[in-house]
Parts: sequence; structure tokens; C-alpha cells
Amino acid sequence: MGENMNKNLRKAVIAGNWKMNKTRGEAAAIISALKPLASGANCDVVICVPFTALETAVEAVKGTAIKVGAQNVHFEANGAYTGEISAAMLKDIGAEYAIIGHSERRQYFGETDETVNLRTKAALNAGLIPITCVGELLSERQAGITEEVVSRQVKLAFAEIDAAQAAKVIVAYEPVWAIGTGETATAEQAQDACKLIRDRLCGLYGKEISDSITIQYGGSMNPKNAAELLAKTDVDGGLIGGASLKAEDFGVIIGAAN
Ligand code: 13P
Repeated sequence: MGENMNKNLRKAVIAGNWKMNKTRGEAAAIISALKPLASGANCDVVICVPFTALETAVEAVKGTAIKVGAQNVHFEANGAYTGEISAAMLKDIGAEYAIIGHSERRQYFGETDETVNLRTKAALNAGLIPITCVGELLSERQAGITEEVVSRQVKLAFAEIDAAQAAKVIVAYEPVWAIGTGETATAEQAQDACKLIRDRLCGLYGKEISDSITIQYGGSMNPKNAAELLAKTDVDGGLIGGASLKAEDFGVIIGAAN
């Protein structure tokens, strides 16, 4: 009962991760279809688009409550880092959020717990809201080390981040085996992992801060399963891949958070 009250302290955030999808024209089209579906939402709605569509998206959401984010951010302020984008550049273009440490970046682009921490700090210092991702591999779940893996990821992601800054971070729990596979964690598995993350944050920052941090679930969230997942006490939102590429589906998930 008391714990459910705590859910009301937190902002529900439904974020779409478009991954490497959508040209500028396609982005404008989906945003215009999304606008009426997102109006009156009882949660924060964020779309994390490819760098090349950021300017288009920022322009297209003007006058709505939809916010725009990037899918990565480099940790250095500037310099000889060919192909990278800084937090200041993202702020400059009008992005307000940045996904950090997504499992696809950990898997394919050499992202480590240390670089996740560096990127999270860089985003915070620039005034971007980090959506910092954690989650275990299938082999880790099968080996019974989910708690150990997720606890380590949380601890390292938040290293040297003070309580005031930590309170601004959104954590996304994305079990890697549920991403893009159509296999969703059960609502109970999602709740258990999000609660574990909150407990670890409580250990780092105390109850008041940990109760205020938004923790999302991500991994094959869709219009059918969203309501059950989002009803869980410690699941404060969703990070949605495939289903965020269709305005109608994303609209249903936004509605489920209301
Ligand atoms: P899917 O919703 O396509 O499984 O992707 C989840 C995800 O990785 C969001 O960041």
C-alpha cells in the first residue's frame, strides 16, 4: 500500500528508441501521427531518434509535450573523436534526453560500465536527462546471476554521481534476452528487477532519492503487454523499440501509462 503511494512520487516516462530507423521525412510523418495520440498524456513522452533526425524532430514536436532525445552521447566535451557527438551539441540542437549504455551499444560498440558512467556524467553536466540502461544477458539469467550483474551495472553507472544529480537520471531495465525478440519479461520479472535497482539506488542515495527515480522497463513492450507491466509498483515507464516505430502502437502504450 505504502509502496504504491511511492509510485505516485515518480514521473511515468514512456520513451521510444527508434534505433537506426527513419529518415527525416519518415520522422516528420510519424511525429505528426503521434501528436494527437500523445496529447493529454498523463506521462512524459520522449522520442529518441537518430542524430540525423534530431533537428527535424525538435521542430516537429514544437507546441506539444513530446520531448526529443538522442541514442548516445560522447563523454568528452570536444576534440579529436571522429564520428562522435558531444552533450553540448545535443543541447544545442534541442535534445533533452540521451539514452546511454543501451545493450546494443554494449554488445556491438564496446560500451563498458565505465564508459556508461562517463557518458551519464557528461549528460548530467550538460543538463541532458540520461536514460541509463542496464540489464542481464540470457546466459546470465540462466546462470542465476541476474541480481549480481544488474547490481554491478547500477553501482558502476552511478559512480561519482552525487544525490542531486542521481535524482535526475532515468534508469532503464532492459533484459537483453527480451530486446527485439518478442519475448517479454513477465510483469513479475520486470517488477523484481526494477525493485532490485531501486534497492541498490536506496543503498547509494537513501530512500527519498531512490523513491523519486524513474525506472523503466524495456524489451518487447507492446500495446498488449504494456498495461500489466506499467501497473507494477516499481515499473515507472517503458523504453520501447519496435513498437515506437508505429504511432498507433506507441499511442496505445502512452495510454496504458495514464
Ligand atoms: P524492443 O521494444 O524492440 O524489444 O526494443 C527494446 C529496446 O531495446 C528499447 O531500447
